[in-house]
Amino acid sequence: MYPVTTIHHVGDYVGQTVTLRGWLYNKRSSGKIQFLQLRDGTGVIQCVAVKNEVGEEIFEKCSKLTQESSLIVHGVVRQDERAAGGYEITVLDVEPVGESVDYPITLKEHGVDFLLDHRHLWIRTPRQRAILKVRAEIMRAMADFLDSREFTRVDPPILTPSSAEGTTELFHIKYFDEDAYLTQSGQMYMEAAAMALGKVYSMGPTFRAEKSKTRRHLIEFWMIEPEMAFYTHEDNVKLQEEFISYVVQHVLSHCESELKTIGRDISKLESVKPPFPRLTYDDAIAWLQKQGHDIQWGDDFGAPHETELAEQFDRPVFIEKYPTNIKAFYMQPDPNRPEVVLCADLLAPEGYGEIIGGSERIHDYDLLKQRFEEHNLPEESYGWYLELRKYGSVPHSGFGIGLERTVAWICGLEHVREANPFPRMLYRLYP
Ligand code: 4AD
Ligand code: MG
Repeated sequence: MYPVTTIHHVGDYVGQTVTLRGWLYNKRSSGKIQFLQLRDGTGVIQCVAVKNEVGEEIFEKCSKLTQESSLIVHGVVRQDERAAGGYEITVLDVEPVGESVDYPITLKEHGVDFLLDHRHLWIRTPRQRAILKVRAEIMRAMADFLDSREFTRVDPPILTPSSAEGTTELFHIKYFDEDAYLTQSGQMYMEAAAMALGKVYSMGPTFRAEKSKTRRHLIEFWMIEPEMAFYTHEDNVKLQEEFISYVVQHVLSHCESELKTIGRDISKLESVKPPFPRLTYDDAIAWLQKQGHDIQWGDDFGAPHETELAEQFDRPVFIEKYPTNIKAFYMQPDPNRPEVVLCADLLAPEGYGEIIGGSERIHDYDLLKQRFEEHNLPEESYGWYLELRKYGSVPHSGFGIGLERTVAWICGLEHVREANPFPRMLYRLYP
């Protein structure tokens, strides 16, 4: 019996015999030597079996191993500068565990539809593994940042009687004899929670039945939604730039090898530090017009607009104070200019578009009630939300950050689909 360890920790066992458990990622052989690439979720390591040393029988077992079959390897850890992770295993014995016949994902290039059909296996490849690691590290950093600032995590419901962002993109389901919808955003519940706990955040899946087939849209995506009592728009923006900077710097210092596997140019992330540039919507429209875009005050930005606006900067840029009528009903009007609201979208650099939407919320009962009427929002589903303005209402603000877009940006991915372990997309519900 040898100590059982993982590839990540083999450096602690140089010169010793260890047991590793994993899957055969790849194999090469040169007649008398088998080079087994073993992966175990923590890394990949080369295990070398020499016929003269292990003997005929063990060598034969090695040569029968196929791609993605599972196995246990017993061998000596050697330090080796030339090896990918700095170490190599000299095989003493192998124990095959589960066979793998005709593994569909070979190490050649595959089309993305094929890979998505085999997402359950695609995630085993080093690049996809690295992305999932970075995603987990981003979530950890987000939670660490907010927890250290005394936010309380609160979980809003997934099944809701109404919508937070508008009624067109909802997934409708039957809730016994009632109608229900999958949540689009936990915001309204987080506003209630902020009145109970002060500073709160949620972290969970949200759903949008959007018929958008772009590299930025998923049908199911995760959102992190902080909500803070007594925070103004200014406080909100400041928190966001500190939050994003913390997350990016944390990933840079904790995911070096993953970013390398993904091939990310990290110099593009090193500049992500406060303060972030800020443009008003008015300035952004004027700038786009000067660049020759056919866009008028009152129009919403499309992806090309966002990309061009953000390309001017080496870190994310806030676009703030959008026209009231292109933003959500709950946003607080600017007291000096009621035609705009106290909101900000944060656009990531390098063409990743909007990663955060946030605002100060209307806290005045009469104004919110008026908005309900203007937007034909039924009081029977929203009464509770209005009621928050009746009992000790306070100015408050919050934001929502899309996890997959953030992962896509930080990892430099072409499409958000790789940022989710099992992406739900337009016309794709399998696997
Ligand atoms: O801008 P959105 O719609 O804002 C809200 O839902 C607010 N209620 C949040 C809040 O203030 N608590 O969405 C927030 C973020 C976007 O900036 C984007 O990053 C992401 O969610 N997002 C999507 N990500 C992937 N696929 C989609 N279809 C997305 N829609 C929004
Ligand atoms: Mg938005």
